[in-house]
Amino acid sequence: MSLGALTQNLSLFRGLLNPETALLAVVKANAYGHGLELVAKACLAEGVTMLGVHSAEEVTALRKAGVRLPILVMGYLTAAQVDQVVDRDVHVLASSSEVLDALAARARRLGVRLPVHVKVDTGTHRQGLDPAEAGGFAAAAKRMGLEVAGVATHFANIEDTTDHTYAFLQLERFRNAVAAVEASVGRVRWVHAACSAAALLFREADFSMVRIGISLYGHWPSKETYLSWLLAHGRDGVKLQPALAWRARVGQLRPVPRGAPIGYGLTYRPTRDTTLAVLPVGYADGYPRALSNRARVLVHGRPAPVVGRVCMDIVLADVTDIPGVVEGDVATLIGADGEERVSAEELAELAGTINYEILARLSPALPRIAAE
Ligand SMILES: Cc1ncc(COP(=O)(O)O)c(C=O)c1O
Repeated sequence: MSLGALTQNLSLFRGLLNPETALLAVVKANAYGHGLELVAKACLAEGVTMLGVHSAEEVTALRKAGVRLPILVMGYLTAAQVDQVVDRDVHVLASSSEVLDALAARARRLGVRLPVHVKVDTGTHRQGLDPAEAGGFAAAAKRMGLEVAGVATHFANIEDTTDHTYAFLQLERFRNAVAAVEASVGRVRWVHAACSAAALLFREADFSMVRIGISLYGHWPSKETYLSWLLAHGRDGVKLQPALAWRARVGQLRPVPRGAPIGYGLTYRPTRDTTLAVLPVGYADGYPRALSNRARVLVHGRPAPVVGRVCMDIVLADVTDIPGVVEGDVATLIGADGEERVSAEELAELAGTINYEILARLSPALPRIAAE
């Protein structure tokens, strides 16, 4: 995991955003597969304002790692979890009276005012309050002794299209909800709506904070977002740098005669005598089985086709055309080797998914190494 790439992506956002807009780094799903602790510590060093997580377990992991940054919990918490993990610097995104009750009880026990962010559903129809309920909910939170520290929403389809009519409709609803909340409880410190795509494309969505996930790690959220940028600017002005490389060592070299069936299901028969590199990783580590007979890995800077089925913990790659490969050599499953690069986007396309899923499903058990 390249700390330099993270830093570069962060400073790229700092250059794009309104100067007064703070940055929340979304580090859920093990920091999109990059390693929660590594990324959180890098964010701390880079002066990120807040970390965004999904679950109570992630709060516990961060605090255990000694990360004292404010954390925003964006997912569901039970009352018991509120009681276990919420401290003065844990902000909770709330849209239910149960969560307010649990926070108020926790605040009384700790003898502090706890920060809550009002979650407004402006059109995703997933989580959050109807905009018309936001003011009343904020007033109730204040009456219960909580600090209404934020108001937030999330876009529904900003990455899926170059037509952002719906996103702007959501923004309009959000502005109204923020006005209602501020009318009922006064000025709110953290107003936030933008994910990576919005932060890349629209200054209108900056408010006082943005929540950046995928692009912090150096990836465009989608082709449509990239195209939207090009349509708006007429040029490629954003150089996101992928932070993650996934490498494995060649565990074994296996000569296989022409025509011999390879792997489970006998799905591949080489048309010539072949040398296979046996890589000790598989779908249990997050390398999708859908990549069987489709993807490539890089060895000595050259592409080696993945052949046969991807197994639970083995991938086979054809290295016949790559001279000098020996056991113990490094194979790159994601990332650059010499002039070549296998991107998360390439694997996502081949596996019928999105770059987010390729990254987020990398097994937390794989060792993460910080690189410059
Ligand atoms: C509520 C919320 N905010 C922000 C993000 C970050 O989105 P992105 O990774 O597209 O920047 C996510 C990611 O799923 C999210 O759920």
